[in-house]
Amino acid sequence: MSDKPVCVADFELHAQRVLPKAVFDYYVSGSDEQETLSDNVAAFSRWRFRPRVLRDVSKMDLSATVLGQRLSMPVCVAATAMQRMAHPDGETATVRACHAAGTGMMLSSWATSTIEEVAEASPDSVRWMQLYIYKDRALTQSLVRRAEEAGYKGIFVTVDTPYLGKRRNDVRNRFKLPSHLRMSNFDSPDLAFSSKEGYGQDSGLAVYVAQAIDPTLRWEDIAWLKGLTRLPVVVKGVLRAEDAVEAVKYGVDGILVSNHGARQLDGVPATMDVLSEIVEAVAGRVEVYLDGGVRRGTDVLKALALGATAVFVGRPILWGLAYEGEQGVGEVLQVFCEEFRLALALAGCRSVKEIDRAIVKRSEFTSKI
Ligand SMILES: Cc1cc2nc3c(=O)[nH]c(=O)nc-3n(C[C@H](O)[C@H](O)[C@H](O)COP(=O)(O)O)c2cc1C
Repeated sequence: MSDKPVCVADFELHAQRVLPKAVFDYYVSGSDEQETLSDNVAAFSRWRFRPRVLRDVSKMDLSATVLGQRLSMPVCVAATAMQRMAHPDGETATVRACHAAGTGMMLSSWATSTIEEVAEASPDSVRWMQLYIYKDRALTQSLVRRAEEAGYKGIFVTVDTPYLGKRRNDVRNRFKLPSHLRMSNFDSPDLAFSSKEGYGQDSGLAVYVAQAIDPTLRWEDIAWLKGLTRLPVVVKGVLRAEDAVEAVKYGVDGILVSNHGARQLDGVPATMDVLSEIVEAVAGRVEVYLDGGVRRGTDVLKALALGATAVFVGRPILWGLAYEGEQGVGEVLQVFCEEFRLALALAGCRSVKEIDRAIVKRSEFTSKI
């Protein structure tokens, strides 16, 4: 039997075998009891398809538009921090693979490659900058400025992380970056998470966030950010209709329905379970995206049926990096593309535009939880 991975789960198994335990634990974990972590994935199984037949699906168009950028498919790459722990080429491998696949990449503020390095690695790629708002607002502003100058197409501001969720294995492992790596966008060792000082008995990253990230954020800070940049601003981490309405009121250009890959408040719903409420509240005024637990082409189709413009994938990309760097990320994106094409065709849709709410139905029956 061939051991070539055929689905995202295969890539994950491989990553678990090859990555150092503390790295795999950091990538894979959710917070606390990880209830939301498994629910993000299980929620997709609570929906069933109602496919149409006899619709000539010999020619398919998978393309989608995100913040005005035409992409080959509605599957984009979410910000995941510190990608050089998975492969020496880290974020530069990811951006090249995304460009080759025709899709977009969101770069983490906490990348182990600089904003500029990632742009130079693939100048024509579609890139968005994920922003953490630091207590130091001049520093935050400089991240935005650098993203603008390096040709990024939007800012995804993360709003669910005033403090870091408690990821138990990171505490047990006293998680910190390997000594040859740093968060490359910052100069000082403290901000680059490469301080030689210990981080006590805690996850180093939790200590870092408590020291550097601004827990005072309010909606007014979104207005501040909007006033700072001409780039579109998307709020990442909305889980309620009321907050989606507030976001629209504050002039955001998009909403990413996200629970941070179940790494922040444990016990929040799976993102698929709140998507409809948010899509309804937004009523087409801005684009709505989803991330969290997207592992299969059918997941993508279900999220789009409930009104998402596109989905973002986090961990699957890290598994691709661990498998074979740029080539591995390319293979993971290809799996998503092929699975999505097949799901779309088997559901009787020829394009993303033909996906409608009626092709899914909530099911009492769940095959796996
Ligand atoms: C290892 C890891 C690192 C992450 N780093 C960031 C980050 O730096 N900034 C951020 O806004 N979200 C971060 N996220 C959350 C992702 O952007 C995304 O919301 C989540 O991974 C989606 O869920 P999935 O991994 O199940 O696809 C991270 C997630 C993981 C798993």
